[in-house]
Order: sequence, then C-alpha cells, then structure tokens
Amino acid sequence: VGSVKGKDLLTWFDYSSTEVKKLLELAGALKSLAKSDVHPPLLVGKTVGLIFEKHSTRTRISFEVGVNQLGGHAIYMHARDLQIGRGEPVSDTGKVLSGYLDGIMIRANSHKMVEELAHAATIPVINGLTDLFHPCQALADLLTIHEIKGYLQGQKLAYVGDGNNVAHSLIIACAHLGVNVSIASPLGFEVDSSILAKAQKLAVLNGSTIETTMNPIEAVENADVIYTDVWTSMGQEEETAARLQAFEGYQINEELVQHAKPDYLFLHCLPAHREEEVATSIIDGTHSAVFQQAENRLHAQKAILASILS
Ligand code: CP
Ligand code: NVA
Repeated sequence: VGSVKGKDLLTWFDYSSTEVKKLLELAGALKSLAKSDVHPPLLVGKTVGLIFEKHSTRTRISFEVGVNQLGGHAIYMHARDLQIGRGEPVSDTGKVLSGYLDGIMIRANSHKMVEELAHAATIPVINGLTDLFHPCQALADLLTIHEIKGYLQGQKLAYVGDGNNVAHSLIIACAHLGVNVSIASPLGFEVDSSILAKAQKLAVLNGSTIETTMNPIEAVENADVIYTDVWTSMGQEEETAARLQAFEGYQINEELVQHAKPDYLFLHCLPAHREEEVATSIIDGTHSAVFQQAENRLHAQKAILASILS
C-alpha cells in the first residue's frame, strides 16, 4: 500500500477508505503466506521501537513477532525504564529515537502525548492504544469479520458497552468499509460525540450508518456481529464499582444474543472479564471468534508495518 509509506498511524481518520481496504487485502495475503511458512523480508535492516506505558499481551507479542517475521528487529521498551519515565520531554525523546530507529509503536495513557511524539519524531509512529483510539485492533477486527462472513459492506455490527478507545477505532474502521454500526452504551459512557459525528460522515460516504442507543436489545436486533470490550479499562480501576453498576444490563449473554441473527459472530478485543461484559458461555461458545481475532492482530500489523516502513 504505497501511498501510506512514511505515514504515522494515530487514527484511521488520517487514512482514506481505499488505503484501509488495501491494508486489509495485504493483511489477508500476508496471512495466507505465513500459513505456508512464507515470510516476505520486507523489513530487513529496519529497527522498530515498541514503547509501553501499560500492560500488554497481544500488542507487544504480535508486534515483536510481526517485525521479526518481516526480517526486521524490534526493541521492547517500558516507559518507566526510559528517561520519559523521569520527565524527559516526549518531544526530545521523539527526536532522539528518530536518530536510531526506523519506526515507533507506542501504547500510552494519553493520545495527546502520542500526537506530540509523532510531531517531534521524523520516523513513523504507530498507535498501539491510547485513551482515545486502538487502530491496530480495528484492522484485525475487520479482517476477522471479512474472513468469517466473506464480505464487509452492509454487515451490521452491534457494539454493546463502553464508548472507549476500542469502540472509537472500530466505528471509524467500519465507516471506511461500509459496515453498519449500532452502539449501545449507558448514559455517561457513550462514544465521544465529535469522533462519532466524524465517523458518521465517513460512513455516509461509504453507504453505511452509525446509530447510537441506550438499549442493548435495539443495538443487537438483527446484528451479524456483536462486539464488546471491558467495562473498566486499564487505568480506570478505581472506578470499577461504579462502572459495574452503570453497565448492569449491558452484558452479552444468552438472552441478549437471541435478538441477533442466528449465525451472529461474537468478537472481543481481549483481555475479557468473563461474567462482567460477556457471559462465559458466549465468549467460549461456538459463535465466538476471539482467538482468531487475536491472531489477526499479527497479520493486520504486518500489513501496517510493511506498508508504512518498507
Ligand atoms: N487487545 C489488546 O490490545 O490486547 P493487549 O492489551 O494484550 O495488547
Ligand atoms: N479498552 C481496553 C482495551 C485493552 C486492549 C483498555 O483500554 O484497557
């Protein structure tokens, strides 16, 4: 996907629908090759820094393995071990790392901080989760839906739960691909209104809609895909009790899924809290593709890395 070479990936708003579609095709192609043990050496001689301010299983390992499979080298850094952990300005860090690395992936608390880093760095910066967005996750999600359903345009995805980082990136990615979205969140936990408005405009251009409701049954009605994420994200632990109360009635369980299409697909970015946002019988049931979805992080990110860095 030549047109994205050298670009940052902070949010899918910065990419065209054509670029997102092409990245998805590339992800599928790289996955097929990997299944036959073919790993195109697209990042030979390249070093990618992976900076984390928070925990991670999928993002860290899939990025390390992805860079490695493409022939490059990945360096894991926890922010507390870097001088940013002692107050060195993010902009200085970005300039310094630009002298050593070919690209940076960062998981940070604040999206603003990542914007500052990307502004200062002369190398591409890829968002591996901020308070506002999780673009790499959304590409893997679309890849999974496409693999299982065969097409994306016109599918109905119901997102039930917190209007968080994962929800934001998911609605933008769906808007690029013409996937209809219905979001059900409780009062006070809705998706950001300006992100929603922008995603809705994009959806119209691609022939789809993004609707919001407070009623999970309405969102799930006739859905092809049901998606949820944790009610308490990393860093919100002290709000756990209040959130458990606010999200009562928003659990994906046997009763709620009765309203979806009989062949509905269940997705969750993971890690999950079983018996909170999703019943064990659903996430571990026959409609769930959460582990295929997790694996697809690897293939989606290889497409991103190869396109941006090679
Ligand atoms: N879904 C996801 O980003 O998982 P990790 O927090 O394990 O990276
Ligand atoms: N919303 C979750 C996603 C984790 C991958 C969080 O921010 O903790």
